[in-house]
Amino acid sequence: MTQSHPGISKAVIPAAGLGTRFLPATKATPKEMLPVVDKPAIQYVVEEAVTAGLSDVLMVTGRNKRPLEDHFDRNYELESALGRKGDAERLARVQESSDLATMHYVRQGDPKGLGHAVLCAAPHVGDQPFAVLLGDDLIDPRDPLLSRMIEIQGQYGGSVIALMEVDPAQIHLYGSAAVEPTAEGDVVRITGLVEKPDPADAPSNYAIIGRYVLDPAVFDILRRTEPGRGGEIQLTDALQHLAETYESAADAAGKAGGPVHGVVFKGRRYDTGDRGDYLRAIVRLACEREDLGPEFRTWLRSYVTEEM
Ligand code: UTP
Repeated sequence: MTQSHPGISKAVIPAAGLGTRFLPATKATPKEMLPVVDKPAIQYVVEEAVTAGLSDVLMVTGRNKRPLEDHFDRNYELESALGRKGDAERLARVQESSDLATMHYVRQGDPKGLGHAVLCAAPHVGDQPFAVLLGDDLIDPRDPLLSRMIEIQGQYGGSVIALMEVDPAQIHLYGSAAVEPTAEGDVVRITGLVEKPDPADAPSNYAIIGRYVLDPAVFDILRRTEPGRGGEIQLTDALQHLAETYESAADAAGKAGGPVHGVVFKGRRYDTGDRGDYLRAIVRLACEREDLGPEFRTWLRSYVTEEM
């Protein structure tokens, strides 16, 4: 069911990264186009935005990313071939992605980091809060997260990030958040953020995952953010600045960018840019499918018991 939220209507999907963890598959194909069962990973992400009420989608792309635009566009040749054959079911499946949302594209000339990718969205977004969904982060459609984040943004203003508790030994792979509890069990106030810390320096084992609802004040901060870890302009650094400014400001002007809150997600999430997680995503989603699931589960059970 699609929801609508006053004030937030736009989703930004950064998808300009190089996808080096998945080479050679991603040499000429964007990692976001790798299929998860029978849909490219990116389609799940756009569907998630639309389900949360955001049907204006800006995708940040780069070189080698043309298939992303083609996937969300009409394909008249294929449609008329399927129409001539009377294959209504496949025709509907082909049209699904082009009917989903109003798609816009902007190119990030050089992949200078996630923060820089988000900054490329500034002219399109304007001065309203907006959502960011990382194109390679798949949230299981059965575990809604974005609509809860939008609800929390409506309640507290400012920005909202998504957090997941991870094994402390894994925190160096993520941004890590220093948090204070709030009255709601699944919501924390963010007092600080560090990108990919050494485990000893991590403020917590709350890891930042790829969903954000951001106040447009982040754009000005990103314009002034120097390249950080890995020589990239880090979104985490800009959010750290937002949180720190709000927490330390003595007057309303200093608090203008609003607080930063975190929604703690306990559902299923897959990093489809990581080979192991990608495989887990396919197995789990295939098992749940009504058409493929029963047969696949039977095969999987016998494979696991007899061959492993
Ligand atoms: P990743 O950290 O997964 O980087 O980016 P990557 O380059 O895509 O992949 P690897 O690590 O080389 O395998 C997180 C998200 O930020 C986007 C990516 O497309 C992904 O959705 N991104 C990253 C950009 O849009 N631009 C950038 O400059 C960097």
